[in-house]
Order: sequence, then structure tokens, then C-alpha cells
Amino acid sequence: MSLVRRSAKVLSGVLSHFTELEIDHGSGSYLYGLDGRAYLDFASGIAVTGTGHCHPEVVRAAVEQTKKIIHNCAGVTYISANIELAEKLQKIVPVKDARFFFTQSGSEAVEGALKAAKYVSGKSGVIALQDEFHGRTMGALSVTAKKLYRDGYGELMPRSFIAEASLEAVAKLNDGNIAAVIIELVKVEGGYMARDRGFVRGLRDYCARNNIYFIVDEVQSGFGRTGKMFACEWYDLEPDILALAKGIASGFPLGAVVLQKEISDGWKTSTHGGTFTGNPVACAAAGATLDILQRELPRMPAKIKTAEEACGRLIAKYPAIFVKLQGLGYMLGLVCASGAVCAALRQKALEYGLLLISAGQSGEVVRLAYPVTATMPELEKGFAIIEQSAGEL
Ligand SMILES: Cc1ncc(COP(=O)(O)O)c(C=O)c1O
Repeated sequence: MSLVRRSAKVLSGVLSHFTELEIDHGSGSYLYGLDGRAYLDFASGIAVTGTGHCHPEVVRAAVEQTKKIIHNCAGVTYISANIELAEKLQKIVPVKDARFFFTQSGSEAVEGALKAAKYVSGKSGVIALQDEFHGRTMGALSVTAKKLYRDGYGELMPRSFIAEASLEAVAKLNDGNIAAVIIELVKVEGGYMARDRGFVRGLRDYCARNNIYFIVDEVQSGFGRTGKMFACEWYDLEPDILALAKGIASGFPLGAVVLQKEISDGWKTSTHGGTFTGNPVACAAAGATLDILQRELPRMPAKIKTAEEACGRLIAKYPAIFVKLQGLGYMLGLVCASGAVCAALRQKALEYGLLLISAGQSGEVVRLAYPVTATMPELEKGFAIIEQSAGEL
């Protein structure tokens, strides 16, 4: 029986699926299907496997750590894996003298960011912006705008507000009891749409002037996805609190709440925690991931150029299919004429051995979430398949 049919008998149907592709294993930029075919993976498990699948250094680090210890609970004993990772991260995150609380997911990193902001400020309100996605748990969902995700769950977190993306709208909601504003620099629901630099910097200044913590959600844009280690670097931005996950550990479930030291100092011991925080195996994999990404970053400008030029050619050649290109650096969204056109393109591409996922309000954007480590020939091959597929729509 196919995995699709077996899945329907045992797994909750609440999870949606981009494709019915059934996978046996992955290696580098490729997935290998149970049908015996290789698929170039431009999805990266929704922007997670930035180093490709099963990178040997990540595998080695995880296996070595697994042989030593899998779990000790960072709240029971001390162990080097999570501390070593925090030491490495402290040198590269866009928050000076940062402190870390590790999580298992992006939603949980957002939860931690919101909780820290509320607790330390003593204020209760949180402002998020329209069209943003911050996760599915109750707190993260409260700052996620999309109706489909929110409806049916009753009252979410009290005093969580969704504002239009303007300084005026945010200022209007500021009643003096706002703990934080949370923002994605590259909107996922917007189809990898980069926020305007002037707006972001203006909002950051507004928050600083009004004693509101500025939380940046880099769950998807972090760890090389934009071609820099963090999207904050494109904006010369230092947040008060940063939420990280996805690409941090090449697929091991790990995230981090990154806090300015003063905020961390105010987050009183025992007021937050978690059994699995800083899991040693995930942290070891993350350490290896950072080494790989740091070696890869110097190659990113050339790859960004290749991707942008390829998208430009596609738009010029098929204007009825591709409307425009948006995004930031390597994190690009190729906007199609409609969700249906994008779905048809993705289906065709899959037939030719390229896995694509979509983004945007109606799935109208090809979300280019290729591995950060994809080689130039792999990028060229992927774009050639998109071109061939577009030609047959
Ligand atoms: C910007 C952003 N924030 C938060 C999340 C939630 O992360 P997770 O699915 O790991 O809970 C996501 C996931 O797509 C995301 O893209």
C-alpha cells in the first residue's frame, strides 16, 4: 500500500501536503523517491535543510554525540553541547552579547520571545503585522494573521493585535501597555516578500523610543537562507529579541530564543523552561551546520546573481505565467499569475524531477527554498526544469 494511503489510515488529516511524493532517502540537494527516481529538492523540507540532506559533517557530529549521550535535560545537569553551540552563535547573531534559550521548533521560539518580552517588560500587549506567519501554537498563532489558521480556535492570547504595516497603525495601537512588536523581515505568507528597509528601520526606532521590545522572527530567513547568515544583516538591524529555528540544525528539531543580555537577566529563573531544551544531538548537528554555512557564505553573491538572472529570463519569456520576482538575496519568490498556475507548474516540474513548494496567500508564489549549499550546476538545472515546465503549461 502506498505511503499516502497508509498515512490516511493512521495520521491526522490536519496536516496539509504540497505533493504526494513518496521518499526513501535524501543526499545533498537530492531526494530519492520510492519510485526509484532522483528529485532535485528546491523545497529543503520547507527551508530547513540548508546544508542539503544528510551532509556528512552533520551526520558525523550527530552520530558522535548520539554515542556519547542523547538526552540529559539541560535543567538537570550541565553538558557541553548546548553551551558550545551558544558560544558559537553568540559570535554571529545580530544581537550583541546575546543569551540563548533553545527550543524544538520555530513556533516555540516565537512563544519564548513573546513570553520573555511580556515577563521582562511587565506589559501585556503584543503587536504583529498583517500577512505575517509566526507559527501554530497558541501564542505564536495569536500573532499570525491568516484567518484560516486562526478561525475555530476561539479566544487566542489576550491583547495580541494585528496592525496594518505602517508606523501610524502601530502607534495607534500603542496604549502604553505594549510589550513587543514582532516582525518577519521576509514575509512567508506574502510569498517571500521583503519588507521595506525604511519601514523596518523606522519601526525599530519607534519601538526603541517607546520602550517596546522589537522581536524579529528569523525562523525561516535565518541561517544563510537570504545569502547572509541572518536577514537582519541586510537591514543593519539589531533586534532586542530574535526567534530562530528551521535551518539551524539541518533538520534536527531545534530553535532558539535569542535575547539581549538585559532582557535575559530580567527573565527570572524557572519562569520558563523545557524538558528537551538544548538537546545535545540537535545542538551538535547545529554546530556542524554553522561551520558548513560559514564556508558557503562567500559563494552566495554569485549564486544570488544566477538565481535572479534565471528568474528574470523566465519572467521575460513567459509573462503570462510569471508576474514578478520578489524576496531578499537568495530567498526569492517567483510570483505566478495565480495559485492554479503555480500548482500546475509545480506538478509539471515534479514530473521532470524538481520538487517545488509554494507560498503566498493563495499559493501563487514559487518559493525558492533551494539548499544554501546547492551548487551552481544544480541551480541551473532547477531553473532549466522550471523553464521547460512553463513551456508546457
Ligand atoms: C517566519 C516563521 N515563523 C515561525 C514559524 C513556525 O515554525 P515551526 O513550524 O517550526 O513551528 C515558521 C514556519 O514556517 C516561519 O516561517
